[in-house]
Amino acid sequence: MGERYRELCKRAAEACDNAYTPYSHYKVGAAVLWESGIITSGSNVENASYGLTVCAERNAIFAGACLGERKICAVAVAVPADNIPSPCGACRQVIREFAEDCDILLINGKGQSKKTTLGELLPDSFGAHNLN
Ligand code: THU
Repeated sequence: MGERYRELCKRAAEACDNAYTPYSHYKVGAAVLWESGIITSGSNVENASYGLTVCAERNAIFAGACLGERKICAVAVAVPADNIPSPCGACRQVIREFAEDCDILLINGKGQSKKTTLGELLPDSFGAHNLN
């Protein structure tokens, strides 16, 4: 793994510390590498009205979008748990908004990781091109 991807994984793991998870106690951290080279990160933020919970991936993506970033190069998702995480369907679609395809790095709390791609996780995806 290259230096930038190692940094991305580290930022995702660090973001777990700020997860707000009084209901599920399942902490997730995510980090996004953008075309400009910057990395934004986020954690999951839950709500007593459960449906208002926002996943770590979307918080990390929206942080970058709000800075004007528009193209995702890679996403890392980390959990302190034993299992390797997997982005939910909604987050896959939100990644798709800013990447036709990209690397996705999944990391558990034991230091194990899996590398996949958006194309593998969301084949035949719906995107802006479908609206033309
Ligand atoms: N969660 C994420 O942050 N990312 C995912 O891709 C899957 C689910 C969060 C939402 C909720 O706070 C907790 O994990 C349990 O679903």
